Amino acid sequence: MAKKVARVVGVYRQESFLPQEGAASPPEGVAPGGWEVQPAGEDGFRRRLAACSSLAELEAVAAGCRRCPLRAGARQVVFGEGDPHAGLMLVGEGPGATEDELGRPFVGRAGELLDRILAAAGFRRGEVYITNVVMCRPPGNRVPTDAEMAACLPYLWAKIGLVRPRVLVCLGSTAARALIHPQARITQVRGRWLERDGMAVTATYHPAALLRDPSKKRPAWEDFQAIRDRCRLAVGLGGSVSG
Ligand code: URA
Repeated sequence: MAKKVARVVGVYRQESFLPQEGAASPPEGVAPGGWEVQPAGEDGFRRRLAACSSLAELEAVAAGCRRCPLRAGARQVVFGEGDPHAGLMLVGEGPGATEDELGRPFVGRAGELLDRILAAAGFRRGEVYITNVVMCRPPGNRVPTDAEMAACLPYLWAKIGLVRPRVLVCLGSTAARALIHPQARITQVRGRWLERDGMAVTATYHPAALLRDPSKKRPAWEDFQAIRDRCRLAVGLGGSVSG
């Protein structure tokens, strides 16, 4: 287990998300968004992930993961699901109770709302890829700690590298902090776009936030209309122009 799992650095870095050929990734242990991960044995672990040539292989590695204490309190690892070559990838925070029970992401109340939003924007759930920053349920659905996020992030980068979506969407502030900037606030970054590794990256409110505060539904819907438009441009997905 890592002595020091993660340190948030103050400078906004824009390194690649993706595994670098033949090397531990990201370069020099610095992750996109400014996460710096330096646990002992990390290089070997990263190489193991980089050697996975499919999501199924990566999922088998994740199934045996004990990199953080969350696994001990969770029923199972909720890896992610969807089209392995999806043009659109959505990243939430972490599994809740229903996800922990069923082993699938976004299948509780927030997931039902996400399904409705996706359908309204013209996406079939099966044509996108859905996952989370952490794959094991945090106790009581608390926000994962920085250390838990840092432990799980290499899996997320590896998933992104294997799926290589054209459009990557952070659902809520945990995903935005993991993938856009460690100090990202969802109210500030939502609806904005950046380009990274050939992907258009954005953030919007987490569906659970929409359930708590319906006044966020309109801006979230505007975000999803923009996401649909980006996907149409990039891969012909969404808005009934299915890919
Ligand atoms: N919330 C998340 O962030 N992810 C899920 O899978 C379910 C609820």
